[in-house]
Amino acid sequence: MNDEIAAPATDRIAIPPETLKMTARDVDVFYGAKQAIEKVSIDIGMDHVTAFIGPSGCGKSTFLRTLNRMNDTIPIARVTGQIELDGENIYDASMDVVQLRARVGMVFQKPNPFPKSIFENVAYGPRIHGLSTSKAELEEIVEKSLVRAGLWDEVKDRLTESGTALSGGQQQRLCIARAIAVDPEVILMDEPCSALDPIATAKIEELIHELRGRYAIVIVTHNMQQAARVSQRTAFFHLGTLVEYGETSDLFTNPQKERTKDYITGRYG
Ligand SMILES: Nc1ncnc2c1ncn2[C@@H]1O[C@H](COP(=O)(O)OP(=O)(O)O)[C@@H](O)[C@H]1O
Ligand SMILES: [Mg+2]
Repeated sequence: MNDEIAAPATDRIAIPPETLKMTARDVDVFYGAKQAIEKVSIDIGMDHVTAFIGPSGCGKSTFLRTLNRMNDTIPIARVTGQIELDGENIYDASMDVVQLRARVGMVFQKPNPFPKSIFENVAYGPRIHGLSTSKAELEEIVEKSLVRAGLWDEVKDRLTESGTALSGGQQQRLCIARAIAVDPEVILMDEPCSALDPIATAKIEELIHELRGRYAIVIVTHNMQQAARVSQRTAFFHLGTLVEYGETSDLFTNPQKERTKDYITGRYG
């Protein structure tokens, strides 16, 4: 459709400069010769939860990974375009990628705690980043992170047990605590509830509400109800392009693009 080519997909969103956290401009991603993301431009705000929705295979995870250079770990992946965090080009040669991934943390689809104790899962990051000067300080960071991740009461008496012994929902909250422990600015979540039961899912959604405002949160979900519940802004991806980006309530009730309408009314996906 012509209107989709003419109008930038970010048209419906005006993010005040003081709350702007990340910007992407004309981002392309290739896997070998195959293009997975085409000319995606988007602004991510600080005070909001931003949801990426779209059918399976449309490039949501691929684009999410460009925001903390996780695609660097995939040898055939190549990213072009411009991505900035607080105005700084994250693909600049001078960017410390380990530091970047602390500032822009990631939570994956399948909970992936380290095969270490609950305490060590959370303490690991602060330790390698030198965020504490004493054991007491490290313990304080671990406790604060677990409290923030809504897990402290469930694990405070078993911190030496293995993180992998927890339930799936607890493991995912442990992974969120691990991300929080290094004091990130942005947290990327790639379908964080897709391996969880409805009760564990509800807990994570509640947690996202509580974390909102403290961190910029971007969540990939193929569950539109979840996007509507947890996010204030939604970006709809289709076939590697960003079709439409808007306030979540607007996008679901009054989509501007035919393809968005087709998707949210269940015509495909
Ligand atoms: N590591 C990879 N190597 C090659 N192709 C990939 C890789 N990851 C994803 N792709 C391809 O890129 C496209 C987008 O995939 P993905 O970002 O995983 O979509 P989504 O998260 O929306 O389901 C798909 O065609 C997928 O097969
Ligand atoms: Mg995905």
